[in-house]
Amino acid sequence: MTEIRRVGVLGCGLMGGGIAQVAAAAGYETTVRDVSQQIWDKARAGIERSLAKFVDKGKLTAGDRDAALKRLRFTTTTAELQNCDIVVEAVPEDLELKNSLWRELDARCGPATIFASNTSSLTIAAMAAATQRADRFVGLHFFNPVPLMSLVEVVRTVTTSEETFRRTFAFARSLGKDPVAAKDTSGFIVNLLLVPYLLDAIRAVERGVGSVPDIDKAMQLGCGYPMGPLTLLDFVGLDTTYRIAEIMFTEYREQRYAPPPLLKRMVLAGMNGRKSGKGFYDYSVDPPRVIDLGV
Ligand code: 3HC
Repeated sequence: MTEIRRVGVLGCGLMGGGIAQVAAAAGYETTVRDVSQQIWDKARAGIERSLAKFVDKGKLTAGDRDAALKRLRFTTTTAELQNCDIVVEAVPEDLELKNSLWRELDARCGPATIFASNTSSLTIAAMAAATQRADRFVGLHFFNPVPLMSLVEVVRTVTTSEETFRRTFAFARSLGKDPVAAKDTSGFIVNLLLVPYLLDAIRAVERGVGSVPDIDKAMQLGCGYPMGPLTLLDFVGLDTTYRIAEIMFTEYREQRYAPPPLLKRMVLAGMNGRKSGKGFYDYSVDPPRVIDLGV
């Protein structure tokens, strides 16, 4: 098996940008594919800001930051990922979109290339089956913000070979992460437990159990969580959470994964959280101010 030297990343939103950053910082030649230069520019600016914070804190030298940025390349074509040893996909949670990209890459990449999806709720088996390399297909689920969160779930589906799993686990470690092994069930370990909690926090808002800041404060101070659940929802993205909940509800048919009506209304209104400027809080002011949702 070839050594992993070149990393491809499909998608440079919040997660893809973070994955590209940690790969480049760990010394991998990293090629990131997304659909427009406007999206790359935003991702590159985010990566530069994040690396600058590590330099300011003395966790990274200016030279290492510059070297990491040099290792990053952006492209609009999947053809430029054809020589990568591993491709990590972080595009929106839409199976058809993901599989159309995997089919394209399957035809272009060599037989040794590992395909890894950062999906948070779709099953890996449904993507592996769309390719001719089901044994070299694995889940690699990162957490937001990727440069700070040390966990990665390495997900083995029924067709993943032992060799692919082992190499991907070692790759996750080489990124400075602390991986765990998870089975290919929708949500894996973290989202299986986290998503019902986040959805319950929205239900608590709907029922008027407490105000948005008080629900956040209660879970921070009462349970020692670094962020309250509504702040975390804004951070993860309400649109992303809505899609994940829909997928998990379809998979398990259990009420606890059903997206609450308030979540749907907020997504329809474009209140997707921090990235759109508004969610449970308004991020156009500092510190963010709670929004009157009229519930
Ligand atoms: N890169 C580099 N540095 C960063 C950064 C980034 N992307 N984001 C924040 N920082 C820095 C901040 O600048 C700050 O630096 P300072 O100490 O010099 O001010 C430092 O990190 C700490 O940040 P904050 O002061 O803003 O806040 P916290 O102390 O609360 O830490 C946090 C931030 C690590 C994000 C912490 O709040 C946390 O752990 N929150 C929970 C995150 C979480 O649960 N993530 C998982 C979401 S679920 C998921 O991703 C799965 C998906 O499938 C849904």
